[in-house]
Amino acid sequence: MENNEFWKEKLAGYDEHEWSKHPSIFAQDVARLFPPRGSVLELAGGQGQDSRWFASQGFNVTYSDLVEDVVQKVRKQVATDPNITCLAVDLSKELPFKAASFDVVYSHMGLHYFDRMETRRIFANIHHTLKPDGIVALILNTIDDPEIQTYGYRQIEPHFFEDPRSGLKKSYFSSGYVQELTRDLFEQLLNDHNGKTYKDSVQTLVRFVGKKR
Ligand SMILES: C[S@@+](CC[C@H](N)C(=O)[O-])C[C@H]1O[C@@H](n2cnc3c(N)ncnc32)[C@H](O)[C@@H]1O
Repeated sequence: MENNEFWKEKLAGYDEHEWSKHPSIFAQDVARLFPPRGSVLELAGGQGQDSRWFASQGFNVTYSDLVEDVVQKVRKQVATDPNITCLAVDLSKELPFKAASFDVVYSHMGLHYFDRMETRRIFANIHHTLKPDGIVALILNTIDDPEIQTYGYRQIEPHFFEDPRSGLKKSYFSSGYVQELTRDLFEQLLNDHNGKTYKDSVQTLVRFVGKKR
């Protein structure tokens, strides 16, 4: 199935869950590290619950996701909110923003679908898009996730696997791997395995917050 179609279907399923209507635990934890009223770019934002919440907290938000239909739906929901702009952004391509455009780049469980080289390119793109001293805040799959064994994922390269049920390819991170990918780009403010979501049973997700070098 084409990536866009896969995610369109998956996100329609998420819609039925109450958690998809509320800001995530991570968003509420990290917003205190963002400059007040700063500009926030959300990547792979899904139903937009975190972007809507950031806007309600006074940030100037650019919400983005791969799936055009979902972006359109979020755009309608926030039509009267002057604090949010919505657009389709495919992370497998270069980010369509000028250098130094945002105070914060944020993603909640959205930067998984890329191999090591692509992930490194995405981090470099995020760095380029951030203003001086800008903040990147990410919560990511953990390499401790038992689903890798349970469902017999095929390893493509270290940290990158294919789910045999869907064919979806996903990265699973550790704090060491994130540090290795980002150390020349960001000064580490937070890098641990204490991330939780309302959706996932695994409670050792990787949280990374860094300041642009
Ligand atoms: C696990 S969901 C997370 C959604 C949302 N951030 C949340 O936590 O509820 C992964 C998201 O990544 C998006 N995505 C997948 N591939 C992408 C790509 N190449 N570019 C941008 N977004 C992508 C999907 O559309 C989906 O919204």
